[in-house]
Amino acid sequence: MQKIGVIPGDGIGPEVIAESKKVLDRVTEKHALDFEYESFPLGATHYLKTGEVISEETIQRLSRKDAILLGAMGDPRVKPGVLEKGVLLRLRFHFDQYVNLRPVKLYDGVPSPIAGPGRKIDMLFVRENTEDFYVGLGARVKKGLSKTSMQITRRAYEAKFDIGVDLSDEEELAYQIGVISKHGAKRVIEFAFQLASKKGIDLVTSVDKANVLTEVYGLWRETFKEVSANYNIRKEYQYVDAVALHMVRNPERFKLLVTPNLFGDILTDLGAALQGGLGLAPSGNINPSGVSMFEPVHGSAPDIAGKGMANPIGAILSAGLMLETLGHPEAAASVEGSVKSVLAAGKTRTPDMGGKSTTSQMGDAVIAVLTGE
Ligand code: NAI
Ligand code: MG
Repeated sequence: MQKIGVIPGDGIGPEVIAESKKVLDRVTEKHALDFEYESFPLGATHYLKTGEVISEETIQRLSRKDAILLGAMGDPRVKPGVLEKGVLLRLRFHFDQYVNLRPVKLYDGVPSPIAGPGRKIDMLFVRENTEDFYVGLGARVKKGLSKTSMQITRRAYEAKFDIGVDLSDEEELAYQIGVISKHGAKRVIEFAFQLASKKGIDLVTSVDKANVLTEVYGLWRETFKEVSANYNIRKEYQYVDAVALHMVRNPERFKLLVTPNLFGDILTDLGAALQGGLGLAPSGNINPSGVSMFEPVHGSAPDIAGKGMANPIGAILSAGLMLETLGHPEAAASVEGSVKSVLAAGKTRTPDMGGKSTTSQMGDAVIAVLTGE
């Protein structure tokens, strides 16, 4: 038996997770899988009622799960960041989910801003999920602050002096430091190559900006070189700006891209646009030897919450990624295949795709294909 922690969360989170769960129930029955679910009522309502974002006890209970399925966090009644950082980032860091897996696929029948006939967009992003500019090292410093903090800043800022920034003249300055460790780069790049081998993907692209940000991305590139030498897979290095250009002009050229955290964050939102919008994009926060967490890329969409308008496909495909990661490739393929036929048929479309179907009609359509398969 495998144990799944479910966190529906805020806004449209519970609506899309309900559909995702419906699909999971059907597919696990069909493939004779034994899953046990426990739901955790985290999010704005819980926070406003109890003052608690997430308790140690909840984290302990989640740590005994095989995986977590999450809807979305964030609510207009709560200060931005409290729930998003307090739950999402907390869990990602606590469980050391160092891989952010984001497939960018354009399915037949889905309108895309760059889709012409025959566009075959199918790329897999493996984004580093714990380091880079997200480590929280930085500060804002104003004139007149304590000597110590100025000294720390001066040291961190020394590199700037030779391009003419004189700290004593500055009213206020801010700095943020990006950190890449050899260990951090190595484990995510290794994950990328192993995944490519497993899936028979014949090209791995490393994304960086090693020509300008030479320290951090120099180490990234060096590590990519070392790791890739152990695999008989075609590889290339690309600068992030060039990747952005190619993603729009010639997305077919990419297969699997491994990226540092910040560039991955930005490029995968571009990817979500190419694949037809946020409502269709799935993701997984993965620790290959720990507890992984699967969630649609979108947020809680308060503007459409409670109206039955949310597209549940991102959440359903996220459950598919969960099945694959938990070792059930046939069940995963069956979820993706069903989504594919519903989208290709084009009869069921939520408003974000230009249709009139509701969230649950979309879920039902996927289940109908699963059942009829
Ligand atoms: P959002 O992703 O919630 O919404 C952006 C736009 O896309 C909205 O117009 C929304 O209606 C639309 N949209 C999103 N998901 C959709 C779906 N499944 N079907 C149809 N349309 C969909 O991002 P926004 O508005 O910037 O943030 C809203 C809240 O969500 C904030 O509190 C934010 O912090 C939080 N957030 C949480 C994330 C997470 O839980 N992983 C990720 C992004 C934002
Ligand atoms: Mg983002």
